[in-house]
Amino acid sequence: MKALVYHGPGKKSLEDRPIPTISAPTDAIVKIIKTTICGTDLHILKGDTPTCKPGTILGHEGVGIIDKIGSGVSAFQVGDHVLISCVTADGKCEYCRKGMFSHCLNGGWILGNTIDGTQAEYVRIPFADTSLYKIPADVDEEALVLLSDIFPTGYECGVLNGKVQPGNSVAIVGAGPIGLATLLTAQFYSPAAIIMIDMDDNRLQVAKRLGATATINSSDGNAVKKLMAMTNGRGVDTAIEAVGIPATFNLCEEIVAPGGTIANIGVHGTKVDLHLERLWSHNISITTRLVDTFNTPMLLKSVQAKKLDPTLLISHHFKLDDILEAYETFGQAAKTKALKVIIEA
Ligand SMILES: NC(=O)c1ccc[n+]([C@@H]2O[C@H](COP(=O)([O-])OP(=O)(O)OC[C@H]3O[C@@H](n4cnc5c(N)ncnc54)[C@H](O)[C@@H]3O)[C@@H](O)[C@H]2O)c1
Ligand SMILES: [Zn+2]
Ligand SMILES: [Zn+2]
Repeated sequence: MKALVYHGPGKKSLEDRPIPTISAPTDAIVKIIKTTICGTDLHILKGDTPTCKPGTILGHEGVGIIDKIGSGVSAFQVGDHVLISCVTADGKCEYCRKGMFSHCLNGGWILGNTIDGTQAEYVRIPFADTSLYKIPADVDEEALVLLSDIFPTGYECGVLNGKVQPGNSVAIVGAGPIGLATLLTAQFYSPAAIIMIDMDDNRLQVAKRLGATATINSSDGNAVKKLMAMTNGRGVDTAIEAVGIPATFNLCEEIVAPGGTIANIGVHGTKVDLHLERLWSHNISITTRLVDTFNTPMLLKSVQAKKLDPTLLISHHFKLDDILEAYETFGQAAKTKALKVIIEA
């Protein structure tokens, strides 16, 4: 089968690999219909993720058809159409029983990281019963590719952790796919204001179209001043960090209102200053989270009921044969205006 294989920092290739086989009774083999590329795949290619060893097939998102099941799989049958979660969960360990699937003692984020992933014609899914979701017949499968990772991430790490509420004010720093998925799911709760902050005018325009009440281009260094002017000098009830660098977390520290919450989503690779000398008296909360995907069933129902349209974030389509070109396009988003690129296997 064709597969996109990581070969160490800066190196990847599309090559022939054997079709995976069942190696535990709880496994399923899924024939991929559609997959995509995540910012995290780019992090791996930069060498930021040493857990991913050279030789691993990348990708942790996608939809497909069950091709084979192990003897211990009871929730699915061959031929079922399924949504693949970016987080693998055995459903049994202490963390899974608390709904913290991302910290599953036997799973977590392993797909396209410590085991072969979804950017291929087939993928092996461990603990299939608790790591796959059946796709209802009347749902657009392409939309669901965005439910593998970015929508649960924006909703759980940003909206739920950030305690977004009716009438409240929200700032989302970073208008990439994750920030935009946060913007769409924040609107489940009707906040009064959602201010999107980014340095890319194209992405800010998209944000405006998708429901942001205001946007701030932060490239001139005046984001704090502009946001304070918009909020009567108070700041926002919820400041969501969706970039993953010190500058944007520091911005959240400056714009959070007394009593507010900073909800961090970004993956940070370097240390970030916490300004307790100012914030100690501000009654704020700071949350962090690795996406658990325990909201995937709710998001599936929202898409099915047409209350949520993930396809708004799809910008490009490619065939698996052209996945190297898809990486080029996704990797140069400022130039190509790429958001999520769909890859058909
Ligand atoms: N916590 C989790 O479980 C989880 C899951 C998935 C992804 N993530 C992380 O979420 C973050 C966002 O993901 P994404 O795919 O949307 O990334 P992305 O790179 O596509 O988007 C980031 C956005 O931030 C903007 N940006 C960069 N520097 C900025 C600055 N100084 N000020 C304002 N905006 C700036 C960029 O223009 C871009 O639009 C990443 O760090 C990713 O690794 C976390
Ligand atoms: Zn991802
Ligand atoms: Zn577990």
